[in-house]
Amino acid sequence: MEEWILVVDDDSNNLKTASHILLKNQMRASCVHSGAEALRFLEGGRTPDLILLDIHMPEMDGFETLARIRSNEKTVHIPVVFLTADEDAGSETRGLEAGAVDFIKKPFVPEVLMTRVRRIVELARLRDNLADQVREKTAEVIAQQEKLKRLNVQIVMTLSSTVDAKDKYTNGHAMRVAEYSKEIAKRAGLSDEKAESIYLIGLLHDVGKIGIPDSIINKESELDDEEYELTKQHPELGWHILQNIPEFPELAIGAHWHHERFDGKGYPDGIAGMDIPEEARIIAVADSYDAMTSRRSYRDVLPQKVAREEIEKGIGTQFDPVYAKIMLQMIDEDKDYHMRQK
Ligand SMILES: [Fe+2]
Repeated sequence: MEEWILVVDDDSNNLKTASHILLKNQMRASCVHSGAEALRFLEGGRTPDLILLDIHMPEMDGFETLARIRSNEKTVHIPVVFLTADEDAGSETRGLEAGAVDFIKKPFVPEVLMTRVRRIVELARLRDNLADQVREKTAEVIAQQEKLKRLNVQIVMTLSSTVDAKDKYTNGHAMRVAEYSKEIAKRAGLSDEKAESIYLIGLLHDVGKIGIPDSIINKESELDDEEYELTKQHPELGWHILQNIPEFPELAIGAHWHHERFDGKGYPDGIAGMDIPEEARIIAVADSYDAMTSRRSYRDVLPQKVAREEIEKGIGTQFDPVYAKIMLQMIDEDKDYHMRQK
């Protein structure tokens, strides 16, 4: 690709010499006589590969011109080299501080001019390529991460629906518990990220039921003591299954302790209060609510008023008061009783 250089100098002889050297070396040169003219030229949307800029010019000098070039995001990346007749080290320091990449002394020595111009254009090109590559790679990584996130949700949903399918009465239970839990988390002021992860934890809270015989899960009549003890094993079964996902330990936590009670009378460990992990305390409320508002073999969906009373009764005993009160608020807002198994 042919390099294109903008030369800015109030001295026509300098412009002529510079453009002659550049042209001789197969570079394109555009020449302007003042800083103002240079800015107008750049405003036209054309971006040269390099600007050779005289320091001493009437009206707008090189420093001011450079400052304007640097303050415009369209031109900020164009490398600028000062042209100076000065032996003055002060101008060089000031110029470098203002963002010039190099100096070329006048009168021009063709080899010096060309070596510097080539080197700077090459460096700028490498920098731009690198920036493009970083942008490209970053976009790829982000797309990959998003894909993995979606895959994660899809796998959790699939696993959850296999458990749900086992129970012909509570179809959709896990999904509803996940939704209520996420809403409670959001209303409690937890972060969006946390609320999303509570949704997934909710989806898998009953995954241990996969290890309970279908005959017990779908039994039409009430369970006897032995059968009841067997179903009570599902939190620990779930915990064991989800131990296989150490990347997301909260999944196992939700499954393990969602049947604990705030007063310590729950199972499997009888832990109480804040010893019960937050995720499990949230899911416990959502789970109980959905158990009441979905059909069973022996009864229909309970009236909203009954479910509300049970949640209220459980404040501080069965449930963490904070999350139970949020559930009550959600019930009260649900005027047409949508939050139930349809
Ligand atoms: Fe459960």
